[in-house]
Amino acid sequence: MDMDFIKVDQGKCTRCGVCATVCPGVIGMADNGPRAIRDLCVSCGQCVAVCPERALDNTNTPLTDQVPIEENTALDSGRAAQFLRSRRSIRNYQSKSVPREKIAQLLDIARMAPTACNSQGVAYHIVDNPDTLRQISATVMDWTEGELKSSPAMASAKYAPHLAMMVEQYRQTGEDVVLRSAPCLIVAVAEQHSFATGRDNTYLSFAYLQLFATSVGLGTCWAGLFEYCAASGYEPLLALLNLPQNMQVTSGMMVGYPQYAYHRLVARNPLQVTWQ
Ligand SMILES: Cc1cc2nc3c(=O)[nH]c(=O)nc-3n(C[C@H](O)[C@H](O)[C@H](O)COP(=O)(O)O)c2cc1C
Repeated sequence: MDMDFIKVDQGKCTRCGVCATVCPGVIGMADNGPRAIRDLCVSCGQCVAVCPERALDNTNTPLTDQVPIEENTALDSGRAAQFLRSRRSIRNYQSKSVPREKIAQLLDIARMAPTACNSQGVAYHIVDNPDTLRQISATVMDWTEGELKSSPAMASAKYAPHLAMMVEQYRQTGEDVVLRSAPCLIVAVAEQHSFATGRDNTYLSFAYLQLFATSVGLGTCWAGLFEYCAASGYEPLLALLNLPQNMQVTSGMMVGYPQYAYHRLVARNPLQVTWQ
């Protein structure tokens, strides 16, 4: 058992114990300061980030990799609310490609989202080839049409009329109702054996991505229908994506430059809450 991952500079440590308090049970306080008491570090790095004296290091999340917070970066509540309520699902994109560096910038924030037990484990497969994108949409439409005809569960689902409408629109006009002619699709993938956690982690990472995208002028939309098709294991779609055998699609997100600006914030159903 390696219990040496916590390094303490005894000259700087004031024994305040905050590192042990924020840790989910792996660091304990001894007379001479913090030490690892279990070999179960999840590498969240909180112990290193919270130490006010830079006295603690953790070889799993080295101090040298942690960026100091130079100033209070918290948004005031009004701006934070406005920022969160300004995000919209973008269904109309400019016909302009997104530089790969910008997509990488989004992913670099997406990967900062919380994950179960710091499991992370979400990888991203980017499709920005216009022909492949259109083939994906066509394939998802084939699947949807087939499912509406052959699957009683799908045909009786609450959203079946919406799906039937999408298929009809696609067949009549060729309009890309699946990926909305977005110039880029981010496909999130996780290893098959950790699919359930991977999907939860993906959803949170995409929430981060959607919000951050607005600050770099990009718009996004969940590719829900694409996700359902991939999750069903539809071979023609999997063949197009050509992912490694052990990887499974957890979700998809369209990205591009929005065609329209929105002038009003999101409104939702009344809040339902109980207190106990
Ligand atoms: C899991 C998930 C899947 C979604 N799938 C689609 C989709 O396939 N196509 C689409 O146009 N919007 C999709 N959306 C976007 C929702 O329709 C949208 O969030 C909702 O209508 C509220 O609009 P807003 O995001 O602009 O506030 C999806 C959203 C979520 C969370």
